[in-house]
Amino acid sequence: MQLTVSQDMESFQEALGELAMDGKTVALVPTMGALHAGHIALVKEAKELADVVAVSIFVNPKQFGPNEDFLRYPRTLERDLQLLDEAGVTLVYTPTVEDLYPEGFSTIVSAGPIGAMLEGTFRTGFFDGVATVVTKLLLRTLPQVAVFGEKDYQQLCVIRRIVRDLDIAVEIFGAETVRESDGLALSSRNAYLSAQQRSIAPKLFETLEAVADDLISEEVSKDEALAKGIDRLTEFGFRVDYLELRKEDTLEALETLDTEARLLVAAWLGNTRLIDNIGIGVE
Ligand code: PAJ
Repeated sequence: MQLTVSQDMESFQEALGELAMDGKTVALVPTMGALHAGHIALVKEAKELADVVAVSIFVNPKQFGPNEDFLRYPRTLERDLQLLDEAGVTLVYTPTVEDLYPEGFSTIVSAGPIGAMLEGTFRTGFFDGVATVVTKLLLRTLPQVAVFGEKDYQQLCVIRRIVRDLDIAVEIFGAETVRESDGLALSSRNAYLSAQQRSIAPKLFETLEAVADDLISEEVSKDEALAKGIDRLTEFGFRVDYLELRKEDTLEALETLDTEARLLVAAWLGNTRLIDNIGIGVE
C-alpha cells in the first residue's frame, strides 16, 4: 500500500475512516520525527499488532521548557517519510501546531504524581505536555493499539496511567530499547554529542548494568550501589540529574529488590541531556 501523508485532522481522519471501512485495525506510533532505528523498531512491533500502521510526526511545543531545545530539535521530514515508506507504514500524520492547538486551545491533561517525579522534577510541565499531546493523538486516531518505547520509561508509565484513568479504549504496548552496538540507547538527541562526548556516552548504560549487578549481588546497600553509580558517572564527566531505583509500574520509591524494579538515570554530557533505564527482575 502507498504511503498517505496527512497534514490536518480532517484528511487524517478521512484516511482512517477508509481503513475502518475496509475492516482494518490500526496501530499508532507517535513520534517527534528525526527517526532512527529505535522508531523503526516500534513500527515493526506495530505491524505485528494491527493490520496497518499510522505514525505521527509532531515536535510538540508543549513538552519543551523555555530553555530547552524546541527550536534546534532535529527536523528531517523528507528522510523520515522515506524510512516510514520503506518500513511499510500506511499513514503518516504530520500536523501543524495550529492543527493540534488551534486558537483558544487551553485544556491541559495533567499527568499527576507519576509525572511530577524523576524527569518531572527536572523538566517542569514536561509530562503535562506529553499527556496533552498523546491524549489528543489517541483520541484523533482511536487506534486499537499504540506503541511506545521503554527508552522513555516514565513516559510509558504516564501514558498507561492516562489511558486507564480517562477510559481511552486503546491497548498500550511497550517496546524494548534499541541500542547502538556499544550500548548507547538510540536517541534523536545523540546527534548533539561531539565525537569525544559520543565516546563517553555508552558509560551511561554500562553504569546502569554495573549498579544492577551490585544491587542483585546484595553485597552493598541500595544507597551505596546508587552512590557508587553516581560517582562513576561523575568521574567519566557526566553531570547526573538522578539515578534511582523504582517500582516498575508506579515508579514509587523502592528500598529493597523484592518486586520488579526499574533503574532510571538522567545525566548531562556538556549541553546534552541523556536518559536511560533498565529493568531488574526478582529471582
Ligand atoms: P520521540 O522522542 O520521537 O520518540 C517516539 C517514540 O520512540 C517514543 O515512544 C520513544 O520511547 C521511542 N523511542 C525513542 N528512542 C528509542 C529507542 N532507542 N528504542 C526504542 N524506542 C525508542 O517520545 C516522544 O517522541 C514524544 O514524547 C511523544 C510520545 C511523540 C509525544 O510528543
